[in-house]
Amino acid sequence: MLDQLNQLERDALSALEHITTGAELTAWQARYLGTKRTKGALDQALSLLGTLSKEERPAVGKRANEVKQSILSALEVKAAVIKEAEMQAAMKSGAIDVTLPGAPAMRGRLHPSTQALRRMIRVFEQLGFEVYRSPDVETDENNFELLNMPPEHPARDMWDTFHTTTPGVVLRTHTSPGQIRVMRERYPEPIRVILPGMVYRYEQVTARSEMQFHQIEGLAIGRNITLADLKGTMAEFARRMYGSQQKIRFRCSYFPFTEPSVEVDVYWGMETERDRMITKGTGWLEICGAGMVHPRVLRNGGYDPAEWSGFAFGMGVERTAMRLYGINDIRYFWSNDLRFLEQF
Ligand code: PHE
Repeated sequence: MLDQLNQLERDALSALEHITTGAELTAWQARYLGTKRTKGALDQALSLLGTLSKEERPAVGKRANEVKQSILSALEVKAAVIKEAEMQAAMKSGAIDVTLPGAPAMRGRLHPSTQALRRMIRVFEQLGFEVYRSPDVETDENNFELLNMPPEHPARDMWDTFHTTTPGVVLRTHTSPGQIRVMRERYPEPIRVILPGMVYRYEQVTARSEMQFHQIEGLAIGRNITLADLKGTMAEFARRMYGSQQKIRFRCSYFPFTEPSVEVDVYWGMETERDRMITKGTGWLEICGAGMVHPRVLRNGGYDPAEWSGFAFGMGVERTAMRLYGINDIRYFWSNDLRFLEQF
């Protein structure tokens, strides 16, 4: 019996030496040590213990334990060697090649409109304007009537309107209705706010106009505000946004809610056919409507025009961004083309 155990140990250890894979090791383990469900060679030897005499039993039992420990510790060493070898092989075979460049993590980014909007807001903040939020869905009253456009007023045609199913409720066609909200909330304080947001127009989409775009409304109201303050604000905005070499111009215009009214253009250039289209053959791109707040609008906001005056402007964010980034078609902004968006 002792000889049998010694033989078993020798066999097991020499078989182990030739083993190189995890699968072989598992088979070897089953053969000598057994599995949960099957008996191994050692178990079989031990099952014969009962057939031995009382005198023989202790020595054989002790030897059987030694053999078991010797097999187990050889197994442990071999298992570690195989694990390491298999990992090395996996790395060599390319399952993991740590020298390959990592897969690029795609970072999201802000939409160019948002980037331009934030830059513009920062400039106006530097000039002392506070940001005020007003809603995209407006009453006809705020969007038109209180801005000096009663129903049937022909100037309403300047903005083709998206109506909601609720009568008297529209998608704002401009950010100007926010003027009424701010004035009614702030009276009798002086005001210097900007109102950024999306506006909606039921309009033909072209290279220079979209049916949906951002505006930044500006409103300044005080005891002594003149057109010179408006001009200075626009000029300083352009200088901070585009640098001092950017040419801008003021053109006479008409809005029902300002008097006098102007439009502000930035110089674009006239080299290509595209330039001609974008600038309607002038070389200039309009970015802003503006003027001195109409006395009737001041009164609708609660400010007495005999004591107060103010200027307002409504600046197109995408137009401003077009000049800033050299984008020659406003339709890129909402076309969701990654080749465009990823450039920002
Ligand atoms: N609301 C005008 C527009 O959308 C722009 C504007 C704003 C003009 C404020 C004058 C004063 O066209």
